[in-house]
Amino acid sequence: MDKTGWKVLLILLQFIISEQGKHSEAFLEADMEISAPEILRQALKEAQMKKQTNPPPDNQRIINSTYIYDASWPTQWKMNSISAVSLDQEGNAVIFQRAGRVWSQSTFNIDNEFTQKHLGVIQNATILAFNRRSGALKYSLGKNLFYMPHGLTVDGDSNIWVTDVALHQVMKLRRDQDKPLMVLGKKFKPGNSPDTFCKPTSVAVLPSGDFFVADGYCNARIIKFSPDGKRILTWGENSFTGIAHKIAPPNFLAIPHALTLALDKGLVCVADRENGRVQCFHASNGTFHSQYHSTVVGDRIYGVSYAPIKGGRLYVINGPLLPTWPSQDYAPSNHEVRGYVFDMETNEVVDKFGLPGKNLNNPHDLEVSLDGTEVYVGEIGEPRPRKFISTVLPRLDQDKGVGTNKTRTVGATSESTAETGATALVAVILIVVFAIAAFGATLLILRHRKRGCCRPSRKRKHAWELSREFKLGNLLDNKHDGFEKLGQEASDDEVAVRDA
Ligand SMILES: *[C@@H]1O[C@H](CO)[C@@H](O)[C@H](O)[C@H]1NC(C)=O
Ligand SMILES: *[C@@H]1O[C@H](CO)[C@@H](O)[C@H](O)[C@H]1NC(C)=O
Ligand SMILES: *[C@@H]1O[C@H](CO)[C@@H](O)[C@H](O)[C@H]1NC(C)=O
Ligand SMILES: *[C@@H]1O[C@H](CO)[C@@H](O)[C@H](O)[C@H]1NC(C)=O
Repeated sequence: MDKTGWKVLLILLQFIISEQGKHSEAFLEADMEISAPEILRQALKEAQMKKQTNPPPDNQRIINSTYIYDASWPTQWKMNSISAVSLDQEGNAVIFQRAGRVWSQSTFNIDNEFTQKHLGVIQNATILAFNRRSGALKYSLGKNLFYMPHGLTVDGDSNIWVTDVALHQVMKLRRDQDKPLMVLGKKFKPGNSPDTFCKPTSVAVLPSGDFFVADGYCNARIIKFSPDGKRILTWGENSFTGIAHKIAPPNFLAIPHALTLALDKGLVCVADRENGRVQCFHASNGTFHSQYHSTVVGDRIYGVSYAPIKGGRLYVINGPLLPTWPSQDYAPSNHEVRGYVFDMETNEVVDKFGLPGKNLNNPHDLEVSLDGTEVYVGEIGEPRPRKFISTVLPRLDQDKGVGTNKTRTVGATSESTAETGATALVAVILIVVFAIAAFGATLLILRHRKRGCCRPSRKRKHAWELSREFKLGNLLDNKHDGFEKLGQEASDDEVAVRDA
């Protein structure tokens, strides 16, 4: 074996060992009965099957937009950089703003600690509620609490849940109280222990009061809590270290960036940002249900929001392309930066929304009303939230101006079970399968390469493309050491793209 070969082997070993460490208990119970060649055979068979059922690329299809941009909303504002938007029960769109604070490459050190405490707490009101119909400011709060706002969700009882990536905390607020009702995580202390987060991104709250936290930029896990803040379930594997991201199977996350609930389906869905997909999991036990992606939408999905219409629709926003993308020969994309609508029954993009004649700048979060008639988008670096209105869907609650009732329940949503064992077991089996298959495939590729047949591709691949194609060419690229490169991508929440 040559030098590259040994390097690959070393990476694989490191990966397997680290994964074993994480799941040592489950590992002991798990894989002993299955022999390795059988696993390999199964994995290859599966990959073959997937290849055959590969649907034709859908980027040729023309997608018509049935939404129009309402430039008159809101009527007045004083904001800058809107990281989140959510709809409350009283007909308002509630936004979370950074008041101009910028997340740059130097905002966090390599240990994910916030380096700009000297800037002080944001003194402006960071949370502002605008009436969805009139566009008037209805209430505001959130002064002197936050350093780098990220996610915001209003639950069915009008509690406001937020995450701050600088604080590494999740807070539950009430509009009429200065002090948070609940604070989870340790102030300015990143971590992955039971009582710490690392740049948590988003919260979703079930009607039972149980809630999910997406954690986050560095941990890649979803945690389910009881109403009083006790952990009851956690899942998700980081596809951001080592080789895992290149073949990320279900359950692997590369920045879980936003959460939404599909209550009528009993699901919690995650914008798996850098994998360019939405993954949905059973809200009861955290097991994988389905995933949604499209070449139309592209490589990054920042936000997701669910509307229970027409069999279930997922509204997403994609991200801007990074001009500083590490692999220079990454094909320049012609993806429009805007919102898209997935039909969950067909897994196809059926609609879109955006600005007339130009891209959105840096969309970061969105929420759609339950009837699908209104979509609200917050953008980083922009002074105002955006509102889009459907020209075709029938409007519910027209007079009240309330299109969302998050306490409207359907399906099993509240029971919580201790399924972590089973989840871990599935994860471990997947890891073993993929590691062995990857190793096999790598050896094959190496042999081919020696004969000079296969130039390794440096084009970045989606997780879902890779699991289809089972390609490992990237692994062999010396310049492409996944360990370092991806850590950086994790931090660029808002790379300046205006001049891109
Ligand atoms: C979009 O509109 C055009 C013209 O009305 C129509 O031919 C086409 O089928 C529509 N595409 C979709 C996906 O509905
Ligand atoms: C923040 O507050 C300061 C001082 O009141 C004000 O000058 C500034 O315009 C505010 N900025 C935003 C984005 O709210
Ligand atoms: C998780 O819950 C769903 C729906 O309640 C169920 O269909 C599925 O079998 C459960 N998975 C496991 C591993 O228990
Ligand atoms: C939301 O729906 C629930 C159950 O249908 C109902 O009890 C509640 O009053 C509704 N809330 C609002 C604000 O409409």
